[in-house]
Amino acid sequence: MTRAPRHFLDLDRFDEGTLRRMLDLGLAYKKGKAANPQPLKGRMLALIFEKPSTRTRVSFEVGMKQLGGDVVVLSHLETQLGRGETVADTARVLSRYVDAIMLRTAAPAKLLELAEHASVPVINGLTDTTHPCQIMADIMTFEERRGPIMGKVVAWSGDGNNVAASWIQAAALFRFEMRLACPAALMPDAKVVEWARAKGATILLTDEPLRAVAGADCVVTDTWVSMGFAEENRREQLAPFAVTERLMSKARPDALFMHCLPAHRGEEVSDGVLDGSHSVVWDEAENRLHAQKGILTWCLE
Ligand code: CP
Ligand code: NVA
Repeated sequence: MTRAPRHFLDLDRFDEGTLRRMLDLGLAYKKGKAANPQPLKGRMLALIFEKPSTRTRVSFEVGMKQLGGDVVVLSHLETQLGRGETVADTARVLSRYVDAIMLRTAAPAKLLELAEHASVPVINGLTDTTHPCQIMADIMTFEERRGPIMGKVVAWSGDGNNVAASWIQAAALFRFEMRLACPAALMPDAKVVEWARAKGATILLTDEPLRAVAGADCVVTDTWVSMGFAEENRREQLAPFAVTERLMSKARPDALFMHCLPAHRGEEVSDGVLDGSHSVVWDEAENRLHAQKGILTWCLE
């Protein structure tokens, strides 16, 4: 009997224990304490990008190679996907060549279709609605600095986008409070908020950044214009949500500042905050590598 592939599609499909197992595996690699540092010898990962990437591409490629495996990187424009071959057929074909597939795409439906028809694990490398690999790295980063995130307060100020949605899902699973300050027209997906609240999470939605950030243990933001989204009047709407030294000073004195990067200095975050003493953004970027090594191992073990 063949086992169903272990996909990594979204945080809301997991319980905390399973996500912690992935994080623990990732941390063991990071500390050089993994029982087997190269469990994926001879395994091959396909990376499909329908949007640009620096961190996701490099961290998956380096991570897979460090685990003993290898990668094939595909831009959809160079494949038959870009000429209309179906996602389902692509899934069936790639499953005959590789052991896992990571996809970065706009449409979450495409990711689900790939997972439905692939006989190998599929990993979400960002869609327009979520970015789970990023938040796994962010939880790892928070806990390395401040210990268990349970019961802590994470404040988001900015666009209620894909990264915000994965933070909300994480709040329900890792049991921390999430406060999001967003313009009324750019609030996070109501279904995600509803799901998290139904799981017992405390999710505050406000249009006042000061209210979200007051006394927070961690302040997070992201670009005002995500890949593939129109600028429209986003900059105008989001300007009051910029994370500046003044806003950061309302959080706890030891609060961390996080940003998934790439940052737009002088827009969603000031240079002073990004380069300042609260900022852990380079650790977050590094931890993409370690967290994803844990995810890959869990998917393929
Ligand atoms: N944070 C993140 O996913 O970065 P890239 O777009 O560079 O992969
Ligand atoms: N919200 C951003 C994240 C980039 C890693 C985007 O989707 O463009």
